[in-house]
Amino acid sequence: MRVVLVGYMASGKSSVGKLLSKELQLKFIDLDEYIEQQQQKSIKTIFSEKGEVYFRKLEHEMLSKVLDENKALILSTGGGTPCYGRNMETILQKSDDSIYLQLSIPALVERIKGEKEERPLVKNIDDEDLPEFIGKHLFERRPYYAQAKHILECDGKDLETVVTEIKQRLL
Ligand code: S3P
Repeated sequence: MRVVLVGYMASGKSSVGKLLSKELQLKFIDLDEYIEQQQQKSIKTIFSEKGEVYFRKLEHEMLSKVLDENKALILSTGGGTPCYGRNMETILQKSDDSIYLQLSIPALVERIKGEKEERPLVKNIDDEDLPEFIGKHLFERRPYYAQAKHILECDGKDLETVVTEIKQRLL
């Protein structure tokens, strides 16, 4: 079984993926961490040294590689992964289940406020400008996320609840 988690930055893809994989006893890969290990550099450094286009190319290659090499896994993607280079098509073709962890703009703003530093796309945005930035960005990205097989509303839900609800969808 291959399960892919998609969603905006800070929607909980990594924490949900980790706990879900533990409970289902499946291998877990976080695509950002995988890229960092392969490159021996943080995402932040890859963006600053080589730029976003280079990162998207790597992300595209690594997504296919990970899905081709693992027939059973939980994969957490980066917030932009489904939105570039036909990656969402790849996700839909090569996974059994894909899940969009959907959060509202206010919920995302609250989460991202405290976690901007490691995220190159938002690190220079003032907190007061985050609602507008995230609103526009999500408007562009949502059509990709929404292609996932399951859409899970996550506002106000803790990690355990989200994982339990995903397991119910997978059964
Ligand atoms: C990105 C999200 C990040 C990371 C990179 C780009 C994006 O992952 O892949 O900074 O385009 O939304 P998270 O969703 O884990 O923050």
